[in-house]
Amino acid sequence: MSEAILRTENLTKRFGGLIATDNLSLNLPSGRLQAIIGPNGAGKTTLFNLISGLLKADSGRVFFHGRDITGLRPHEISRLGIKRTMQIKSVFNQLSVMENLWITRQATRRFLHPFRPASRDRETRERVDYTLEQVGMTGLAHRIAGTLSYGDVAMLEIGMALISDPRLLLLDEPICGMSPAETERAVAKIRELARKIDIIIIEHDMEVVFGIADDITVLAQGAILMTGSPEEVANNERVREAYLGRPEDEDYIEEAENA
Ligand SMILES: Nc1ncnc2c1ncn2[C@@H]1O[C@H](COP(=O)(O)OP(=O)(O)O)[C@@H](O)[C@H]1O
Ligand SMILES: [Mg+2]
Repeated sequence: MSEAILRTENLTKRFGGLIATDNLSLNLPSGRLQAIIGPNGAGKTTLFNLISGLLKADSGRVFFHGRDITGLRPHEISRLGIKRTMQIKSVFNQLSVMENLWITRQATRRFLHPFRPASRDRETRERVDYTLEQVGMTGLAHRIAGTLSYGDVAMLEIGMALISDPRLLLLDEPICGMSPAETERAVAKIRELARKIDIIIIEHDMEVVFGIADDITVLAQGAILMTGSPEEVANNERVREAYLGRPEDEDYIEEAENA
């Protein structure tokens, strides 16, 4: 059993009368691609917001590699190595792909080594090139981000998270809005990345999840419905029920069954 990269203990978050995160205790081991799935409004993004410090929990704790990070501010949590992408994509539209990566790296480096400008440029260039390769965008280095396809913007955002040295990468629906070809490419890249760093992916598309995850945690109404392998989750009656009444999701379940 490998070390828990992330653990939550009785995490609870309310918005008025709504319980978005309901006494949630998670224990995610390192070295496995973890997916968190669940119907819309299940509390997936809220969980990421609690982990990354964007929201304060009403009660409960969050541990990262055994360290209690509850109540730390977002920049402190980011500095410990938890990086995330947002469900709503955010890159600098007027800048090129390379420049987006460059300034993200400079911001990280400036923080780490404020007085080492001379060696910085070469290091940054190498790192930008490496990251372009990691996300499969070398050929798009000089494209203005605002002109990229949706899938490429999503990959650039992942690159910007990668270039700031994550130990844990939180991806919030990175595939959402991608074409089938983009999806296939992104899934392959994410799997490749997961061999080197820990990744937790929130994904609504069941088909994608079954193809990408080692372990799946299913959330419904802020609580864990089940945790298991893709096969276990696909065959679980309660998971099916949680997705029922939502026609677009029934299709996914049927496809997963027939796969
Ligand atoms: N800032 C907020 N204020 C009020 N309600 C919120 C806020 N963020 C999320 N919620 C509510 O909490 C529930 C869980 O939302 P969310 O975590 O975004 O779900 P998911 O990402 O699984 O679709 C939803 O009912 C949503 O409307
Ligand atoms: Mg969400």
